[in-house]
Amino acid sequence: MNVIEVERCKTGIEGLDEILNGGIPRGRVIMLVGGCGTGKTIFGSQFLYRGATEYDEPGIFVNLEEHPEKLKQDMLSIGIDLGKLEKEKKLIIVDASLSRMAFKTEGSEYTLSPEQFSVDSILALIKEAAEEIDAKRVVVDSFSALDTLIETKKMHVGMSLREDIRRALLGINYRLQSMGLTTILINDVVGEELSTHGVEEFMVDGVISLKYQNVGPDSGRHLMVKKMRSTGHSENIHTIEFVPGTGIKILSYS
Ligand SMILES: Nc1ncnc2c1ncn2[C@@H]1O[C@H](COP(=O)(O)OP(=O)(O)O)[C@@H](O)[C@H]1O
Ligand SMILES: [Mg+2]
Repeated sequence: MNVIEVERCKTGIEGLDEILNGGIPRGRVIMLVGGCGTGKTIFGSQFLYRGATEYDEPGIFVNLEEHPEKLKQDMLSIGIDLGKLEKEKKLIIVDASLSRMAFKTEGSEYTLSPEQFSVDSILALIKEAAEEIDAKRVVVDSFSALDTLIETKKMHVGMSLREDIRRALLGINYRLQSMGLTTILINDVVGEELSTHGVEEFMVDGVISLKYQNVGPDSGRHLMVKKMRSTGHSENIHTIEFVPGTGIKILSYS
């Protein structure tokens, strides 16, 4: 039997490509789940930063959580210079932060006003941005913010929210894959859950979970690959560390 080796998108995160047998399968949609402060935004920024600087793969950061300037400042504090990438046209930050819904501000070219805010308009903006810099990677921070939008706009009358989320994710996956992008969808979760609605993890090609346990014998920060279609991967819980100047590093992965 012939085994076809899939093409990989190297994350550049120390140890992660090793435990994924070479990287994330290219063109796939991966969900990154974890509670607050577990390192999801750092992971996403590092994925784009390494991609642009080491593998010549420009990227798009879709920012639904906070002001882009704040994102850049936070990431710079750990040594990930997103502003520099922007200037070099290796990164476009799509500003669709939910805070804009409350305060209407003048934005840059890749900005959505509250009236324009929808899953479709975000996808259209990603497409435009991806074509401009020939992007190969995209990070959406976060899908949880998008699902708030799906909830408030209630897309299909008579359908459950779960079904709405499922359909939205099918559409997002299909469109991003057609653009040739390898995607990290960030999902904020509470406790041990892998998703908010119990369907998201089934709709994506892979799930990576980040955890922070502050008490007990297992205390510390951990990463685990819960699912990754079309590749073998480590099934262990890996201890991680935040390293100034780099970002996330997996401590033991051999
Ligand atoms: N400059 C830094 N040096 C070391 N650790 C940092 C630095 N900046 C942030 N962190 C760590 O990263 C955490 C935030 O990571 P972040 O990716 O923003 O989390 P999330 O997006 O999952 O909420 C902080 O709580 C802190 O523990
Ligand atoms: Mg975050």
